[in-house]
Amino acid sequence: MTAPDAPKGVDVDKPSAARIYDWYLGGTQNWAVDREFGRRAEKLWPLIRPISRANRAFMNRVVRSALDAGIRQFLDLGSGVPTAGNVHEIVRERLPASVVYVDYEPVAAAHSRLILDREGATGWAGLVQRDIRAPEAIFADEITERLIDWSQPVCLLMITVLHFLGPDDHPGELVATYRDRLAPGSWLAVTHGTCRPDAPPERAAEVRAFVDAYRDTSNPAYLRSADEIRPWFGGWPLLEPGMSALPDWRPDDPVSALDAEVRPFAWGAVARKP
Ligand SMILES: C[S@@+](CC[C@H](N)C(=O)[O-])C[C@H]1O[C@@H](n2cnc3c(N)ncnc32)[C@H](O)[C@@H]1O
Repeated sequence: MTAPDAPKGVDVDKPSAARIYDWYLGGTQNWAVDREFGRRAEKLWPLIRPISRANRAFMNRVVRSALDAGIRQFLDLGSGVPTAGNVHEIVRERLPASVVYVDYEPVAAAHSRLILDREGATGWAGLVQRDIRAPEAIFADEITERLIDWSQPVCLLMITVLHFLGPDDHPGELVATYRDRLAPGSWLAVTHGTCRPDAPPERAAEVRAFVDAYRDTSNPAYLRSADEIRPWFGGWPLLEPGMSALPDWRPDDPVSALDAEVRPFAWGAVARKP
């Protein structure tokens, strides 16, 4: 059940957000250092697994909605280690369409390439191993050039990745660079960790301890309020139901009691370029 060999370039001495998240979701591409960190983090904040699943489910609903709306191109920034419910798995049912994954983490990149290759998906899906803070390099990458036609709408996914950018990374300006590149009719989907004022105080203390723990990883994390996140959509109209708790964005099923508990700790929203 464990990842046997670390691919070249993988630092297995320091936990990484991609591999810890894989562990939260029940995946196998994680090492002892990641699992140890994950167990400690889960003790600090027991909602981490339910919120990771709610985040993944949000992303799945967005991708299906985008396909229903006729979008055929997906750019998934900070795509992570592929575990169940990847973008290309949903898209595969509705080809022709294309998917570009972007992640700079070596395990996420190696495993994504392996899966796309094994599934014979490389004709319409690919992995760009780059830092999302270098958008021009991502636009110029041969995989992006082959798979994305910028004159057509794209669904740009920034799912649980922007909270790994600190103030010095100027996330607002970065998101604007991506927004500017998109054709009218494109979608921008974002999820982001938060701690709403209505969070029960004991849970709020847990999430803050959890975020503190990430300071020791390759990916320190930042919580942000709805007011900090909203400008990233550049005034584009938000699709119904607007900025929501993750389980409340176009739910397939009634929200469970456990999902209800994660509401105060992440925002999700999708906007459409006019
Ligand atoms: C928590 S995972 C989210 C995976 C997926 N988007 C999801 O929500 O299911 C965050 C991913 O973002 C990646 N990441 C963080 N900062 C990044 C950066 N500056 N450039 C590229 N990838 C980054 C990490 O390697 C990790 O795989």
